[in-house]
Amino acid sequence: MTTTAPHRLPAGMDPFRPENLADPYPYYAQLRALGPATYLPERDAWFVATYDSVSQVLRNYREFVSGLGSSYHRVAESGFRFPFIDNDPPEHTRIRRSVQGHFGKGPMAELATAVRADIAQLAEAALATGTVDVVTALAQPIPDLTIARVTGIPSPGTQRMAAWADAAFHVVGPEPDPAHLQLIMESLGWLGNEGLTGMPAHCLGRMMMEQGGDNGLLAAEGTERLFAIASIWVAGVDTTNSLISNMIHAFTLFPEQWEILRADPSLIPAAVEEVLRWDSPVRVFVRRTLEDVELQGVTIPADSDVCALFPAANRDPDAFDDADTFDITAPRAKMHLAFGASIHLCLGAPVARLEAATLLEHLVERVVRFEAAGEARRGISRTVRNFAALPTRFVTT
Ligand code: HEM
Repeated sequence: MTTTAPHRLPAGMDPFRPENLADPYPYYAQLRALGPATYLPERDAWFVATYDSVSQVLRNYREFVSGLGSSYHRVAESGFRFPFIDNDPPEHTRIRRSVQGHFGKGPMAELATAVRADIAQLAEAALATGTVDVVTALAQPIPDLTIARVTGIPSPGTQRMAAWADAAFHVVGPEPDPAHLQLIMESLGWLGNEGLTGMPAHCLGRMMMEQGGDNGLLAAEGTERLFAIASIWVAGVDTTNSLISNMIHAFTLFPEQWEILRADPSLIPAAVEEVLRWDSPVRVFVRRTLEDVELQGVTIPADSDVCALFPAANRDPDAFDDADTFDITAPRAKMHLAFGASIHLCLGAPVARLEAATLLEHLVERVVRFEAAGEARRGISRTVRNFAALPTRFVTT
């Protein structure tokens, strides 16, 4: 196979520029058109944006490694190694096996009863009010309550949890604000004290801290156990917050899709997947090369940072017909990559799916349509595409 020269991006084509973060999809289309992998000298980083190139980077985990760090900053610079995302096999396999069984069908069925009750209460309160900010009424509290049930770590309060989770995704992106680092230290301090001591006798968090999960996590002298539980605790909050807001936003923009769902609620699981594809919560995770690697005809040199742009892959017209159209009935030949793929596929995907589907089940019976009730504002996170405010009217008659 011939190797083509990589396309060098001008500075304006930085995915982390505010205008590209605010309206990323036209930018992603330009990036995909430039080839499977592009290089931005200003950041000394590579970007992959087509479905096939993102997929290949995630699946080819021996050449595109996570062990040097899967965030924008390398482990060597930040000093943080998160046990799931920042390890390669065999370490990653050991750590993942220590908890994987707790995210299977049985535990999810048990979790569903509690999640249904929590969501019913929050959704009824929102419906009674009529017009709410979806972010504070649903998108922040649902993951806060759910992650407490998954881990056993009591909620530190929805606002505090939302701020910590937002900060956690800020610091794994470029140019983090020192205030965010401060929040991370505060959250770890709280977790190591009130969080852990507040856990009930039988829960995942206690099992991980006291026994190393299903006998996989290294014993207490290091930080592996604490960071493993912290990873689960924090990874499921800002991401699911984004999914819930993106979902209500999509159905507000496309009321005919909501009509279709109301007429046939069996489409709920497909609707959740279509939201994940059409407006994916996670913007980017990173891999590093140890040697020169050829990616669809482009040679990526050894020791490169390779940023996988998940939402760009999910709008690739070569993978999805009518990729820019939000259509909950469209047969999608390929699976979206919103939860990643291969060995690092999101551990909490069944939890996030449960939360989103349960909310739709509740709303589909009562809400006729959603209407924008003020200015929707996106958050400023460079890693998660969330909302800062999403004022919405829930029309019930
Ligand atoms: C809509 C919600 C969510 C989205 C979009 C999402 C997205 C992702 C993505 C893209 C990855 C792959 C990272 C990589 O390849 O480097 C990932 C990994 C992970 N996610 Fe999620 N996530 C969500 C919810 C959750 C929840 C609810 C939890 C916990 C209960 C969770 C825990 C994790 C963990 C522990 C990993 C690391 C897995 C590994 O490296 O083996 N996530 N997630």
